[in-house]
Amino acid sequence: MFKRNRRLRETSNIRDLVRETILSPTDFIFPIFVVEGENIKEEISSMPGNYHFSLDRLHEIIEEVIEVGVRGVILFGLPDHKDEVGSGAFDKNGIIQRAVKKVRTISKDLVVITDVCMCEYTSHGHCGIVVDEKVDNDKSLKYIAEIALSHAQAGADMVAPSDMMDGHVEAIRTILDENGFKDVSIMAYSAKYSSAFYGPFREAADSTPQFGNRKTYQMDPANSREAMREIDADIEEGADIIMVKPALSYLDVVRWARDRHDVPVAVYSVSGEFAMVKAAAKMGFIDEKAIAMEMHLSMKRAGADMIITYYALDLCGWLRE
Ligand code: PBG
Repeated sequence: MFKRNRRLRETSNIRDLVRETILSPTDFIFPIFVVEGENIKEEISSMPGNYHFSLDRLHEIIEEVIEVGVRGVILFGLPDHKDEVGSGAFDKNGIIQRAVKKVRTISKDLVVITDVCMCEYTSHGHCGIVVDEKVDNDKSLKYIAEIALSHAQAGADMVAPSDMMDGHVEAIRTILDENGFKDVSIMAYSAKYSSAFYGPFREAADSTPQFGNRKTYQMDPANSREAMREIDADIEEGADIIMVKPALSYLDVVRWARDRHDVPVAVYSVSGEFAMVKAAAKMGFIDEKAIAMEMHLSMKRAGADMIITYYALDLCGWLRE
């Protein structure tokens, strides 16, 4: 006798009862770009509805994030000045350090996460220290650790290293502990792929590498077993949360990570994923709300506990409808 699977789809109320995955504002983390200057709220052309904010207007977006019920933000900074070693990234008075302090004056509770990387701050646009046209892993670690420490000193709850250097989590955990920040957690961009989906972000963050590409440190999109090695290493080194990035093309990796480990798994739905949907919606080719909801639901269904997404505010609005 065949199974009548359709029975449990008979009415909307039954479907509500048997639903396995539910999106909530508490799932989302919203990325925010901060810039030097005054009175700036400038839309990022390839990411409609996302803006560059100067510090004096940062409260506008922070208040909105809190209002819709999102629990965390991840901050990206665009410094005025770039150099070989990305000194703006660990400057106590740098753009991110001041942004973190500013957010702290607006809210004590909002989870403030910082992206620990150098690419927005280095003149060459790479995520580490360059020696003879190569990104030097061990030289970079010292700088990455200093950046994380400066974020913790400014008041970040969580630091998120996205540089993809080997040993970065250990270096960060060590410097944080030595300086009394044992309660600052590490969200590691563990399985971060060398992805074309980062295109709009690099324009928004002015972080395109000036020579070569990121393939010697970010992962090959063809590999998933390697992602497990990256994730295992980060957990061993002390990561509190692991991340898979991008999201949509890597949901197999999310599921594998979820089944393999019991630490929280974050997924980053990146700029290119957002921009594609926005563009198609603008052309009238798709139903933006339905597509965005389905995309994020699939990330959660794949096993993500939290989703970093440019759609966070829109999704919260749609979830309330
Ligand atoms: C910094 C960083 C990048 C992203 C997050 N952190 C860019 C990159 O690695 O080139 C991408 C985020 C996005 O595309 O939304 N290293």
